[in-house]
Amino acid sequence: MTVKKICCIGAGYVGGPTCAVIAYKCPGIQVTIVDLNQARIDAWNSDNLPIYEPGLEDVVFARRGKNLFFSTDVDKAINDADLIFVSVNTPTKKTGMGAGSAADLAYVESATRRIAEVATSSKIVVEKSTVPCRTAQSMRTILEANCRENIRFDILSNPEFLAEGTAITDLFNPDRVLIGALQTEEGLKAQQALVEIYTHWVPIERVITTNLWSSELSKLAANAMLAQRISSINALSAICEATGADVDEVAYACGRDSRIGPKFLKASVGFGGSCFQKDILNLVYLAEQFHLPEVAAYWRQVVIMNEYQKERFVHRIISTLFNTITNKKIAVLGFAFKKDTGDTRESAAITLIKDFIQEHARVHLYDPKVEHAQIYMDLIEPGVADSKAQVEKHLTICSSAYEACQDADAVVVVTEWDEFKDTHLDYQKIYDSMHKPAFIFDGRLILDAPKLRKMGFKVEVIGKHNLAGTA
Ligand code: UDX
Ligand code: UDX
Ligand code: ADP
Repeated sequence: MTVKKICCIGAGYVGGPTCAVIAYKCPGIQVTIVDLNQARIDAWNSDNLPIYEPGLEDVVFARRGKNLFFSTDVDKAINDADLIFVSVNTPTKKTGMGAGSAADLAYVESATRRIAEVATSSKIVVEKSTVPCRTAQSMRTILEANCRENIRFDILSNPEFLAEGTAITDLFNPDRVLIGALQTEEGLKAQQALVEIYTHWVPIERVITTNLWSSELSKLAANAMLAQRISSINALSAICEATGADVDEVAYACGRDSRIGPKFLKASVGFGGSCFQKDILNLVYLAEQFHLPEVAAYWRQVVIMNEYQKERFVHRIISTLFNTITNKKIAVLGFAFKKDTGDTRESAAITLIKDFIQEHARVHLYDPKVEHAQIYMDLIEPGVADSKAQVEKHLTICSSAYEACQDADAVVVVTEWDEFKDTHLDYQKIYDSMHKPAFIFDGRLILDAPKLRKMGFKVEVIGKHNLAGTA
């Protein structure tokens, strides 16, 4: 079969860009992206898109109103479509069985039930959200138990590998597209229909077809391995700080081994983002369910190491600042979990700033993209700062890095935004405006430490021993 109409349920970070790119690359296919959240859909239909991604506006504005539509009419879009992407959120469960590690599949289930209830013709249903292995089976059971007579649903797994901040280039030029299907005649036909969509722009040799379970597990595995590399280099960064080895030099030397490769070896204050922690915890939960405690412990350690890295950085900051930051002004540069995104999910900045607030520091924060309301939402912590007004007692959101650093005792670089590099910011000006001694903590290894030391800064960098001493 040839797909003519696509519906995408969930207009978030994954569904929005992915299906906008499909519309862009396949002008002959009508793509409707639906969401229950009216404000989000209104934003997609406005000049001010709800998510920031370089290149996204060009793609959306080129096709919107032509073959790309955003709507809250979920039922109509389901009914019209030949193929439906399910791209809803799957957060880690906060309560009940599996709390803290299992994925909350309530949104996937409710979207699936909706499809079964309203569909009056057969559909290909594509699992796009990252979900635990064997979720497709549950979706299939729900669809088959609830559908009308003479309607069939074929389920595919098509996990998304885009990274935020580079979503559009990743989608235009993916390393691979992965499509899993049941190994039945109908399953393989459905798989082929989705292959045909992607091969409008992706070379066929980059499209991998597997069985359903391999596809689902590969997504969790890829994210777990990527996160594991960061935890590995971060674990080494602690040894570097203790020994005098330099983590950048170690990463470079290791990465030159073609079996290891150079990418994803940048030490940092810790990984964030909506996927890594959640997907590893999914894998941990899966291993536990299958009575594989050693496997579960192995992967869990990747997350433990990430928490440790954040803690270690906070300790280093406090001990360098003569063991107290009470009433000191700390300028935090960056709140997003990485550069070029406004997304803050699991950002290391949240943990760091909460710790600074607990220590009664005065935090002045600047991030070029994150919405202020989001910052307050992330920092409200029961028992510490219960409300926005409470957060505001400890935190000032600034409109530039210079403003945040004015009269500060220390500057902490948390997100690697290009504009924080010493080639962009005038650090001499910052130094002149700060309390002395002026400390700077580089949690992203983006600064030229020797250059800043020459200006007079006391510089502390993750994964680097401060040979000059602190005070
Ligand atoms: C990740 C995967 O890369 C992507 O394939 C998957 O689809 C979703 O999860 P994302 O979370 O958007 O994408 O960003 P990514 O670039 O992977 O960064 C995740 C975190 O790791 C960020 O906080 C980043 O700063 C950190 N990181 C990344 C490092 O600390 N060091 C590195 O070398 C790379
Ligand atoms: C290793 C390093 O590769 C080499 O760079 C270093 O100088 C010495 O240690 P070696 O132990 O000789 O070399 O062999 P290697 O090919 O690395 O294999 C080590 C073990 O890992 C073997 O038992 C091999 O069978 C196993 N292995 C390797 C796997 O199980 N799976 C793999 O994908 C690769
Ligand atoms: P992701 O990063 O996985 O894309 P997001 O939270 O950014 O996650 O987006 C998921 C979107 O899915 C949200 O905008 C949410 O409102 C939407 N959503 C969740 N459940 C449903 C549903 N049953 N029908 C339609 N939209 C849904």
